[in-house]
Amino acid sequence: MTDPAFVTVATVAELSPGEMMYVEVGDDPVCLINLGGEFYALNDICTHQEASLSDGEIVGDEVECPLHGGAFEIRTGAPASFPVVSPVDTYRVRVVGDEVQVAPNG
Ligand code: FES
Repeated sequence: MTDPAFVTVATVAELSPGEMMYVEVGDDPVCLINLGGEFYALNDICTHQEASLSDGEIVGDEVECPLHGGAFEIRTGAPASFPVVSPVDTYRVRVVGDEVQVAPNG
């Protein structure tokens, strides 16, 4: 079944494994991540303070915030490293042809 909620945010070729980029989905800032060939989308704003996760670094299967070094699990958005204690929102991602698509939340 097609889900019209999904919006195209990038092409597969734009984001190699181990890379991430800032995209927007609806009104949300989103950090789109290619982790070993699988695509994941997290809200881009760190839940600790106002920092953009897409300016941070991918370390293993976590994304590290650029401001205080807190981290989130890329697959789940769960907090992985202090001072981050709250999860970040995740979004559904799918690949259709060569397009990476994300569904807005809510
Ligand atoms: S703003 Fe991200 S760890 Fe502080």
